[in-house]
Amino acid sequence: MDDSAADLQRLEALRAGVDRRLAELAPRTGTAPDRLVEAVRYALLAPGKRFRPMLTLLTAAQFGASEGVALDTACAFEMVHAASLILDDLPAMDDAGLRRGLPTIHRAFDEATAVLAGVGLLNHAYAVVSADAGLDSGLRAEIAGRIAGSVGFSGLIAGQARDLFDRDQMRDVPALDRLNHEKTGVLIMAAAQSGARIAGAGEAAVAAVGEFGRRMGLAFQIRDDLIDAEGSVEGAGKDVGKDAGMTTAVSLLGVDGARAAMDDHLAAGRAALDAVGGCDLVAGYVGRLFAGRKAAA
Ligand code: IPE
Ligand code: IPE
Ligand code: MG
Ligand code: MG
Ligand code: MG
Repeated sequence: MDDSAADLQRLEALRAGVDRRLAELAPRTGTAPDRLVEAVRYALLAPGKRFRPMLTLLTAAQFGASEGVALDTACAFEMVHAASLILDDLPAMDDAGLRRGLPTIHRAFDEATAVLAGVGLLNHAYAVVSADAGLDSGLRAEIAGRIAGSVGFSGLIAGQARDLFDRDQMRDVPALDRLNHEKTGVLIMAAAQSGARIAGAGEAAVAAVGEFGRRMGLAFQIRDDLIDAEGSVEGAGKDVGKDAGMTTAVSLLGVDGARAAMDDHLAAGRAALDAVGGCDLVAGYVGRLFAGRKAAA
């Protein structure tokens, strides 16, 4: 097996490990009303990329954490993300019909169940971090704080609000970058930094991972905007064309300009990690994930 096939196999094993642990950590029948449990498991365990938990696991590994120690934190980030998707898809938000190749949770169940599942899942993420016996109490509190900060009024919630209130009026890249950083980037940044912290990385390394995460978040939202503009429902597994009339990287820069901006963020993110001791594992993963949308691809 060549190096690249071995890397791919390792990445796939990590991703499968996230899926297995999510299934264990998700609420089970008997702990809450069956319909709610079913809805939460439907949304959480549906086939997503697991980008945020992969970043947690890969940065943890990159900075020398022992295997498995970051797994529950990684899953907590995926729970927060899944909760954000449930809320993002609601009729009052993006009114989406398809997610991860399946009818959105409010269509498969109902709107009230979707709201309860989303809010419940968000809270469950904190419970998972607080109960993680593999981390000392200081680290558990720090990670819960990082998650809370990334979701809250200077993070995802603020970004989603700005998306609803301002997105059709944004006229420049810095304003759009701020929105994208809030709604998408801060959670990605926190996921990557938490992996580094679990590995015991020092302040400089965690700051560098933060810059890497910030750039990954911006690149990831541009990738998402490109998919919305030029992808297919089958390929994306979700509605496309939802951003029509909205400000996106594509509306401001065109498809080629958006690709170039995405590539710039990817290169800058990699440089930030390189500066603190290399990033083969993380860079290999990110490179593969973004390959289909890159300018040179
Ligand atoms: C979609 O996230 C929402 C954004 C923040 C752009 P993902 O593209 O990571 O969705 P899944 O988890 O793979 O379904
Ligand atoms: C959503 O951005 C970001 C969050 C879920 C916080 P989008 O609305 O563009 O995500 P998709 O395209 O529905 O996945
Ligand atoms: Mg949205
Ligand atoms: Mg959406
Ligand atoms: Mg989108």
